[in-house]
Amino acid sequence: MPPKRVAIVTSSTRSPRLNPTITQYVYDVLTSDPIIPTNHNETLDTDPRHITLELLDLAKQSLPLYDESVIPARLPASDPTPHYCKAHTRAWSTVVRQYDAFIFVTPQYNWSIPASLKNALDYLFFEWKGKPAGIVSYGGRGGGKAADHLRGVLTGLRMRVVGTAPGLPVKFTGLPVGVLSEEEEMVRLDERDLVGWREAGVEGMMRNLGMELVCELDKV
Ligand SMILES: Cc1cc2nc3c(=O)[nH]c(=O)nc-3n(C[C@H](O)[C@H](O)[C@H](O)COP(=O)(O)O)c2cc1C
Repeated sequence: MPPKRVAIVTSSTRSPRLNPTITQYVYDVLTSDPIIPTNHNETLDTDPRHITLELLDLAKQSLPLYDESVIPARLPASDPTPHYCKAHTRAWSTVVRQYDAFIFVTPQYNWSIPASLKNALDYLFFEWKGKPAGIVSYGGRGGGKAADHLRGVLTGLRMRVVGTAPGLPVKFTGLPVGVLSEEEEMVRLDERDLVGWREAGVEGMMRNLGMELVCELDKV
């Protein structure tokens, strides 16, 4: 059986932004854990529950503010893609259909999720429905309000949201000024934030989230 594909979603789209760095941190924590059956770990490659973790950046999807004339939840459930009016929706539908599960990594914007994430979610319905989802938030106090809002939205999309939702308080890591290239966009996480997260058990929570997703995928 091919490994199940799990997308780790970068949700903010501005420049500069912290999200790609946090997404990479989540990826690194999950792929370095020997318990989670990622197929990056060759010793576990025969595990039938194995998954691949892939990065998915909303900034690269070229999605305008929602402009689809059909209602996604009213399209044929088994193959909604050709029924969208807009080419960008069909392209986004094709991307999302490739994945079996998602980990949404989101900042908190004014006590909620960024509009870019809500916009990308609203474009589709059956492409999300029934799939397992995890949430990792960040912000001055960990982005818990964004995580709570996102849980509601994903539940509305009938996703199976796992219980553990780590929140990363960003107290020391700063952003450079100005528009940056993709390489420049990766900022170095301040060691004091990393130590604080580890001491608060955030990396352990991420691993729990990963295993909860693996268990949910096992039920499919
Ligand atoms: C429009 C906007 C609203 C924000 N609102 C909050 C907030 O409600 N709570 C919080 O802790 N941080 C808030 N922040 C700070 C962000 O968490 C912080 O800037 C973070 O780096 C944003 O992620 P990004 O750089 O990937 O866009 C806000 C930032 C922006 C740009």
